[in-house]
Amino acid sequence: MPTACAVSPETDARNAGDRMPASVDSDSPSPRRRLYGRSRGKALHAGQERLLEQVLPRLTIAPEALASGSLFSFAPRELWLEIGFGSGEHLIAQAKSNPEVGFIGCEPFLNGVAAALSGIDREKLMNVRIRRGDAQTLLEAAPEGLFSRVFMLYPDPWPKRRHHKRRVVSDPIVEALARTLRPGGEFRFATDIDDYAGWTLRRFLASPFFRWTAARADDWRTPWPEWRPTRYEAKARKAGRGSVYLNFVRL
Ligand SMILES: C[S@@+](CC[C@H](N)C(=O)[O-])C[C@H]1O[C@@H](n2cnc3c(N)ncnc32)[C@H](O)[C@@H]1O
Repeated sequence: MPTACAVSPETDARNAGDRMPASVDSDSPSPRRRLYGRSRGKALHAGQERLLEQVLPRLTIAPEALASGSLFSFAPRELWLEIGFGSGEHLIAQAKSNPEVGFIGCEPFLNGVAAALSGIDREKLMNVRIRRGDAQTLLEAAPEGLFSRVFMLYPDPWPKRRHHKRRVVSDPIVEALARTLRPGGEFRFATDIDDYAGWTLRRFLASPFFRWTAARADDWRTPWPEWRPTRYEAKARKAGRGSVYLNFVRL
């Protein structure tokens, strides 16, 4: 069984009324594309509402602001992006361990954003900015070579063939990543769905801008040294599924 997720086909079907419109908040994905999945889940509690009202405006970034070079109150050594951070456990752990790096988390699911804000607030992190919306819209607005590292961890599997075009990994996003990662920068991808691993590998191997770093099987079976397992990785293990970790370097 594929990963059950906030925006999985299963929940999507159950929550057709919650299906995201073409635009999430102030994001305006290009008219060719739309986002799939839920934009929000169960009712937020008062503390989460307060974070969205008081903390999100301070941390949110408009895609156009990426070019400004002044996203943080300090000059970060590098900028790292996490696409689809879910509830933000990995984003927060990375931001805590790397205070000199500026992090951007991009996630359309409101409840996930609220959960991440709670962790950012609790840990008093100064090096995280949040975009509630579509990663591709964000990447399309980003200047060339902006990011040194991009994470995409356990994207929604969309297992049915007719839904494959809904997958976040697509030819346009590979192109956008090639443009916005600096040479030597890394794209780190994890999935528990073999078919999605193959899908992603094919697209990156076809790109002249990326090199897959694996030399032996253990390289894609073993997570990165400073790995912090995500919520969906825990779900995969509970369901008896292993993971594939793919690392691509921008040439
Ligand atoms: C299966 S969940 C994984 C969450 C988290 N990375 C983890 O491993 O626990 C996939 C996440 O991707 C987000 N997502 C879906 N489409 C997206 C898009 N176009 N841009 C950014 N995030 C997206 C979903 O809202 C969801 O939170």
